[in-house]
Amino acid sequence: MPDLAYLNGEIMPIDQARVPIEDRGYQFADGVYEYIASYEGRLFRLEAHLDRLEHGLRELGYAPIPRPHLRSAIAELFQRAGYARAGIYIQITRGVAPRNHAFATTLTPQIVMTVREIKAIPADLRDNGIQTITVRDLRWSRCDIKTTQLLANCLAKQKALASGYYDAIFVSDQDIVREGTSSNVFAVSNGRLTTHPLTPHILPGITRMAILEICGEIGLEFSESFFTRENLYAADEVFLSGTVTEVLPVIGVDDRIIANGGVGPITRQLYAALGAKALDRPDVR
Ligand SMILES: Cc1ncc(COP(=O)(O)O)c(C=O)c1O
Repeated sequence: MPDLAYLNGEIMPIDQARVPIEDRGYQFADGVYEYIASYEGRLFRLEAHLDRLEHGLRELGYAPIPRPHLRSAIAELFQRAGYARAGIYIQITRGVAPRNHAFATTLTPQIVMTVREIKAIPADLRDNGIQTITVRDLRWSRCDIKTTQLLANCLAKQKALASGYYDAIFVSDQDIVREGTSSNVFAVSNGRLTTHPLTPHILPGITRMAILEICGEIGLEFSESFFTRENLYAADEVFLSGTVTEVLPVIGVDDRIIANGGVGPITRQLYAALGAKALDRPDVR
C-alpha cells in the first residue's frame, strides 16, 4: 500500500505531491496542523481534532474551511490508504503569495494531508519507561494553536536524543512544567494526577482530554494546575500523553530517577484504559 498525499482535492503518492515555494507555510511557518490516529481502522476523536484545527484557523484569521469538506477529504484519504493503524497528518497554510510579512485576507488556504502507517513505539519503552531531560521553553506564547512552527520542539527533541534521552520536557523560566516536545505531561503523587492547566502555553492535547475523562469515569482524582520541576522529580509516577505517544511512562527526568525507577500502576491502568476507549468509542469508520 503506498503512503498517500492529499493536495488541494487530489490524492497521489506522497513523493509526487508538490507545493509552490511561495506557500506561506514554507516561508513563514504560517500554517496549522493536526495529527489523527486510527485504531483498528477507525479514527480516534476526529471531531475533537477538527475543533482544535478550527480554533487555530480562527485565531490566525484564515478563511474558514467548511468542516464537511475537511471530513470528507480525510475520510477519502484514510479509506484509500486502507491502513488499520493510520496516522493522518493535516496541514493548512494561509496560502500562496509573493513573500511579504503582511498578507492579503483573500488568500486561499492550502490543504495538504498525508497518510502513513503508524510505527508502534518499541514495546521495551512502553514496558520499562523512558528517560527525559528538561529544557527551557523558548516557544512563543500561543502554544494552544497547533502551528507548524516547531523549531524549538525539534531542537529540544534533538538535544534529548543527542544526550542519550528519549525526549525533552519544556519548563518555564519559573520552572513550571509545561509539556513535552510532542506530548502533554502528567505527574502522579499520592494517587492524584496533576497536569498543566489549559493556558496559551500548552497545546490542549486530545489525549490529555481523554485521560481526564477516564479519570472521571474510574474515580481517579486529578487537578489541572501548575507544578514545578521539583514536583516532577518528587512524583510517584510521571507519564507523557499524545496521539502516538498514548500514555508513555517516564522513569527519569534529568539526572533523577522517578520513584523507584519502575513503571507505576496508575500509568499502566491509564494506558490500558485509553486503548480500550480508542477501540470502544470510534468517531468514524
Ligand atoms: C506540543 C504538543 N503538546 C501536546 C501534544 C499532544 O496532543 P494530542 O494528544 O492531541 O496528540 C502534541 C501532539 O502533537 C504536541 O505537539
